[in-house]
Amino acid sequence: MSDQLLEKAARYVREAKRVVVFTGAGVSAESGVPTFRGGGNTAVWRGMPATELSSAELLERDAVTVWEWFEYRRGILAGLSPNPAHYALAEAEKRYDEFLLVTQNVDGLHQRAGSTKIIELHGNIWRGRPFGSSKTVPLPDTPLPEIPPKGPNGEVLRPDVVLFGEMLPAGAFEEAATVAASCDVCLVVGTSALVYPAARIPEIAGQAGAAVIEINPEETRFSDFADVSLRGPAGEIVPKLFGK
Ligand code: OAD
Repeated sequence: MSDQLLEKAARYVREAKRVVVFTGAGVSAESGVPTFRGGGNTAVWRGMPATELSSAELLERDAVTVWEWFEYRRGILAGLSPNPAHYALAEAEKRYDEFLLVTQNVDGLHQRAGSTKIIELHGNIWRGRPFGSSKTVPLPDTPLPEIPPKGPNGEVLRPDVVLFGEMLPAGAFEEAATVAASCDVCLVVGTSALVYPAARIPEIAGQAGAAVIEINPEETRFSDFADVSLRGPAGEIVPKLFGK
């Protein structure tokens, strides 16, 4: 990545008043969280692909297996820490009149780094909710005392995560889209931008006239659409971008 490109992107970031950041699994890669589509790998656990383990269909049929899979991932995440990209984004939210972090990640690492202005489009692995309800219950401890876990009134909980075959939580996408439609700069960090409707967020920002800056070591389907594409790891580039 050239210094000129970084300087061009940093100028957009310095001059912006309203910033939206859209993140995906790649922002957590340097913390040790595996991406979904990286390196040709698809996660397989107990012989089942992640797409089946994290599906609405399996939850209906076998909630225990879904929870055991989530508990396996929660156990891994508990030993990991935010990286410099998470921390730089948590700092950045203090600088702008309007700032919104829209993440597809469920790992909670943005919040652990201190981000508060955040919409989690796909939920959060550290929460559950009763079936058919949007009232969330924090589940910060791993291992869970029982599987499936229960809420304060003894109600059985499901993960507060959007599973394959499910809609996004009501209102989350709409709120993110409204803010994206009026931002000056949209950073797109560590996402293949393949999963819809989430991937509409940077498209909406760009179509409404925002400068779109992509940060990703690989080219993505979004790279041509971006005003600036910075090729490299988020943990290196995001702190530089806000430090300039
Ligand atoms: P993907 O696994 O599709 O894409 C991860 C992206 O991160 C790729 O473009 C990588 O090149 C990039 N990447 C890898 N290492 C990086 C690094 N150090 N710094 C920056 N970028 C890096 O993950 P997502 O785009 O997040 O949905 O996937 C979107 C959704 O697909 C997920 O939220 C999940 C999945 O189905 C649900 O669970 C509902």
